[in-house]
Amino acid sequence: MDALRRLFPYLRPYRAYALLSLATLTALVFLDLAIPRLIQRIIDDGIRPGNQDVVLSTAALMLLISLLSAGVAIGNNLFSVRTGEGVARDLRADLFDRIQGFSFGNLDRQRTGLLMVRLTSDVNALKHLTQISLRIGTRAPMMMVGSLLLMIQTSPPLALTLLPLLTVTSLLIGIFIFRMEPLFRVVQQKLDRLNTVLQENIAGARLARGFSRADFEIGKFDAANRDFANHSIRVMRFMSTMQPLLALCVNAGMVVVIWAGGLQAIEGTLSLGQVVAFGNYLLTMMTPLIMMTMLSNTWAAGLASARRVGEVFADPPEVQDLPGARALPEDLSPTLEMNNVRFAYASAGGDDVLHDIALAATPGQTLAILGATGAGKTSLINLIPRFYDTRAGTVRVGGEDIRTVTQRSLRKRIAIVPQEALLFSGTIRENIAYGKPDASLAEIEAAARAAQAHDFISALPEGYDSHVEARGANFSGGQKQRLSIARALLPHPDILILDDSTSAVDVETETRIQDAMALSAASRLTVVVAQRISTVLKADQIIVLEHGQIAARGSHRELLASSPIYREIYDSQLGGGLPGVRA
Ligand code: CTP
Ligand code: MG
Repeated sequence: MDALRRLFPYLRPYRAYALLSLATLTALVFLDLAIPRLIQRIIDDGIRPGNQDVVLSTAALMLLISLLSAGVAIGNNLFSVRTGEGVARDLRADLFDRIQGFSFGNLDRQRTGLLMVRLTSDVNALKHLTQISLRIGTRAPMMMVGSLLLMIQTSPPLALTLLPLLTVTSLLIGIFIFRMEPLFRVVQQKLDRLNTVLQENIAGARLARGFSRADFEIGKFDAANRDFANHSIRVMRFMSTMQPLLALCVNAGMVVVIWAGGLQAIEGTLSLGQVVAFGNYLLTMMTPLIMMTMLSNTWAAGLASARRVGEVFADPPEVQDLPGARALPEDLSPTLEMNNVRFAYASAGGDDVLHDIALAATPGQTLAILGATGAGKTSLINLIPRFYDTRAGTVRVGGEDIRTVTQRSLRKRIAIVPQEALLFSGTIRENIAYGKPDASLAEIEAAARAAQAHDFISALPEGYDSHVEARGANFSGGQKQRLSIARALLPHPDILILDDSTSAVDVETETRIQDAMALSAASRLTVVVAQRISTVLKADQIIVLEHGQIAARGSHRELLASSPIYREIYDSQLGGGLPGVRA
């Protein structure tokens, strides 16, 4: 319930629709409740005395009311749909914004597949909940109270006779809803699990083929699928015993009405019309109740979804601008400094992955970070654009502690080529211009040339307008890397970070990329991450990272002379000539 309360503000912009919806619903209830009274009149004042006029006029009135009721019902549907769709749209937009604002830390925690479910099925479940609440959810209690009052008005003694049965039915329905909610909640969890498995499986379909693990994946899916089906069956089994029981209550009620009411009609204390009207009120009271029990599914799903959507909103972005944070001054020379930096991932149990990092570099320099896999290279460079906050120590750009400036102004100065080259679906041109959408074709070409991508792009039938599939699926690893280098070069960043960005291109192309980049590097600070020593040979300063610690630093020459670790890496990679080639 608490989870639902958080979502109430989303109704506010649509309160006019919601109110109209409730108003039409009330009208509908009144119209529906009038019908049994009219039937009573047809019987008592028309049929029995043989008064044709009353029969005709009452029938005409009933027809009119039915038409009116249909119109009002259409209105109610439209208004509730408008409300539900509006709430869903706003909720999706806010969720999307929230996720866009997530820091890397949040994204490590929230699983992609589940975030997608939050934005789609969960929002849908809440939409249904909104719509249902504005229809049957409100109508049922109104019908129930209204019918009960009219039953009492028609014949208090008969209503009293029915009291035990009504109590039993209410109890049954109470039990039903009470037991149903947790059952449906489990079904929801199983559905969630099924979604996760499915998302992972489809994302990893290629991998599963490569390792011939299709059987294993099918098994995993089967288990989740069966689990979901089994729980659904359990719910349905419960429902299928409960529903006939409720129907039995209704029928028993009808028997009581006909029996007790019939006796009273024979005695003359009750008219035939009253007995029939009473029976009809019994139906108008019970039917919506039974319909409500079928809604417990929507309720459970809606509640579960509200809770989970709430969790996304309750996860504040880990990295946030300080109140009153200033923009990084534009004219500041983009030096980089780290002092006593320690860093840990919240997800990894809190052990430090970087210890006591200290480094400094100035514009025009290339700072290289060399280290084995898992040494902490990516973690280190992710601290520069403040993708994560340090656990201790400071990172300074242009002498400013980056925690004191706005993220936007900081990131505007930095371009990063991530370790995993990621492209968006669209054209090559759009992908390269991602960081500067108004770039001219000449600028785009220049960036592509520097990244040694121009040649292969030009060779494509549609050149720069060639289509890029989602995630860049129609390009090779090396092509993707070069496109993402071009993307980073285009805005002429003050600080350029390359995270092992040439790992998939050959050494010769890598050298050409480095030479081309050197031409424009006079005022730029370049940070190059690599496992391959050939990537870092020309750097002004090389930092050797080992288990999150700086093991050695200096230029290639200095390190070769002074650092046994560096010497060892050098010998193993280049000692016998070019890597992969036997001397
Ligand atoms: N790590 C983690 N959570 C992440 C990313 C990394 O716990 N979201 C851990 C890894 O398990 C690893 C350490 O942090 O032990 C350093 O990882 P990383 O900086 O990514 O290592 P790299 O040096 O970049 O390794 P590679 O060359 O393989 O990219
Ligand atoms: Mg890495």
